[in-house]
Amino acid sequence: MPKAEHVILRELLAHGTGWVSGAALAGKLGISRVAVWQHMEKLRAAGFTFTAQRSRGYRLTGNPPHLYPPLIETQLKDGSTHCPLKILDEVDSTNDEAARQLAKGQKTPFAVLARRQTQGRGRFGRVWNSESPGNLYASFVFRPQLEPARMQTFTLWMGVNICELIANFIHIEPGIKWPNDILFEGRKAGGMLTEARVDADQIRDLIFGLGLNVNQTPTLWPADLQRRAITLEEVTGVPLDINRLTAALVGRVLLAYKNFVEGTHLATFADLWHRFDVLRGKPICLLEGPRQHRGIVSGIDNEGALLLRDTQGKARRFRAGEVTIEKSS
Ligand code: BTN
Repeated sequence: MPKAEHVILRELLAHGTGWVSGAALAGKLGISRVAVWQHMEKLRAAGFTFTAQRSRGYRLTGNPPHLYPPLIETQLKDGSTHCPLKILDEVDSTNDEAARQLAKGQKTPFAVLARRQTQGRGRFGRVWNSESPGNLYASFVFRPQLEPARMQTFTLWMGVNICELIANFIHIEPGIKWPNDILFEGRKAGGMLTEARVDADQIRDLIFGLGLNVNQTPTLWPADLQRRAITLEEVTGVPLDINRLTAALVGRVLLAYKNFVEGTHLATFADLWHRFDVLRGKPICLLEGPRQHRGIVSGIDNEGALLLRDTQGKARRFRAGEVTIEKSS
């Protein structure tokens, strides 16, 4: 049985900026109009804004600017309901919380989201600045039962799916920088951190972490991050509805995962990569531990390795590393 808050939110969202009568809500829920009003006050305290008129009812004028679980839940696609969402106010790292939940025996799939992280992590053990509740910090947990070699393209596949989701959402195309950066105008809007535990010949479990800069106030970032990072709000010029974006993201991640496990992703992967890839044809420097490799990127291969024509004209492939785009000479 859906909770009253979910029913009210569903009705309000279905009516957009139109009016929803208090009497109709009361009838639907089998409660009094006063009880409806009490629910509305609870929603107001949670950050929703309404106009209310005795004769017409309630009209939604604004949503909370941070993650609000019922608002995400009411906007989830039917296919997402098998993935419970644990939405926290604050956590050290959603990837770490996901690992703790796994250790406690939580059934997969599930996801952990937080408004803020105190120890958000990026690749190479770097800090992922996670102080703003206006951004998205999420980890999805799966047990794919695939051989480890299959996972080489997992983050790349998820990356292009997230790029397409963002493109559909804001109508501006992001770029993907191999292997895990989502960019606009050369600045980082998102990053992914996939952590898998492997048994002898199978992936035991996999945590897919995503950080997305949505409505953060950029001036609250340290100066160097202000130069390197960008938010979706900066890209579009308007704040985004983070709860609607999150609900869409959950649906897309679950669908992308299903396609990956079934192998049906192969039908679109190369095209999607080509569409969002910002490196093809560009001169780059790839840092592989202490070594630097320079060359022109020609794409990726079937195993997700980056293909490079080096300065001697030799074709090279790299499974890992950090890429910087160089200025063309
Ligand atoms: C990177 O670009 O280096 C990857 C960044 C990944 C950040 C996300 S935020 C949610 C999840 N929890 C973490 O601690 N990290 C990932």
